[in-house]
Amino acid sequence: MFLSRDMLIKLKEEYGTPLYIYSEAILREKCREVKGILPHRNVRINYSAKANTNPELLKIIHSEGLDVDAMSPGEIVIEERAGFTPDRIFFISNNVSAEEMRFAIDRGILISVDSLSQLELFGRINPGGQVAVRFNPGIGAGHHEKVVTAGKKTKFGIQKEFVPQVKAILEQYNLKLVGINQHIGSLFLDGEVYADSICALFDIAREFPQLQFIDFGGGLGVPYKPGENRLDFSVLGQKLDGLIEAFLRDFPNKDIIFKMEPGRYVVAECGLLLGTVHAVKQSYDTRYIGTDLGMNVLLRPAMYDAYHEVSIVKVGSEAEADDLETATIVGDICENSDILARDRRLPKASEGDLVVVSNAGAYGYVMASNYNCRLRPAEVLIDLEGRARLIRKRDTLEQLFINFV
Ligand code: LLP
Repeated sequence: MFLSRDMLIKLKEEYGTPLYIYSEAILREKCREVKGILPHRNVRINYSAKANTNPELLKIIHSEGLDVDAMSPGEIVIEERAGFTPDRIFFISNNVSAEEMRFAIDRGILISVDSLSQLELFGRINPGGQVAVRFNPGIGAGHHEKVVTAGKKTKFGIQKEFVPQVKAILEQYNLKLVGINQHIGSLFLDGEVYADSICALFDIAREFPQLQFIDFGGGLGVPYKPGENRLDFSVLGQKLDGLIEAFLRDFPNKDIIFKMEPGRYVVAECGLLLGTVHAVKQSYDTRYIGTDLGMNVLLRPAMYDAYHEVSIVKVGSEAEADDLETATIVGDICENSDILARDRRLPKASEGDLVVVSNAGAYGYVMASNYNCRLRPAEVLIDLEGRARLIRKRDTLEQLFINFV
């Protein structure tokens, strides 16, 4: 945890809870780590903004020299607002409409398409244009089956067997294939599977000798559970360096750029989620700690059974941090799956204490919703001098009405 107890209490008093809190220092450190992964290669890092699109974080990421990917016109406009120019945005589309493609084309943003059907559509609306194609290397990975995005059971990418059809469509519409990309899934802590998928992607790349870039995708994990080992960047970097060396030996374009698209790795660890204990109760065999951190605020545990470290910050005067209990931490949403953390050994909590969730910077706020007509939380940034600044206001009740007719 990067904040003291006093600071957490102060933040709660000033901004209320639930509250997402980010550290600029950690965010910058993570940007530099990913940028340094292949120091001797022609590499660009695209931050995968779906993990966290707060414009103030995007501005920091921009200032660290990373590019971005986008998944939708919405992400594109937010990225533009944060200062990214079209040449630094890569639209990785999936099942988009002609209007959405046109939206990116009109702005001069490169699009990756991931089916023959969408490549045809692209060709029809932008003949002679530049395009990238997302392939499925046949190998997937991830912390849960719901986030594995390559291999035999996924909607994403074009399988290698369809390379002849891709070539035919490129020729038919006089398209220039400038890049190929993949994304095998989210959160692996062992780089072997990533390396294997890159070998498979290189095999596809050899079919297209004019390529300007090859994008390996994201998925680099961070440890969420105590005792989990970090992904070793020096081992992974060396491994990838060797693969690139071998690939370049017989690839004609020696200036080809290699890209990576980490989302989680960049933002997960710079974020905390702060909540308040509103109730405690015993029900049959379970001790419940009832908080304002519902599944509408942080969906990951309910959606993927994802583990987040949770701590209790005692606020009351009877603070006895050594008195432990086993408890299940739940939110305030009307669903039985509204469980933040199960059976944790924690200091005995009481009403008014604070709950702090670690590694909440990735896929936290972006997946928050107004389910149960609850308000999405506020977000605060701790700058390099340690000062807190509001970077997104909490929703208001009035906002719940804005689209009613
Ligand atoms: N590139 C593409 C095309 C992607 O679809 C994704 C993530 C990334 C890059 C970045 O992946 P990362 O480095 O963050 O693992 N909501 C889930 C994760 C879904 C990831 C979706 N795609 C979670 O909370 O675990």
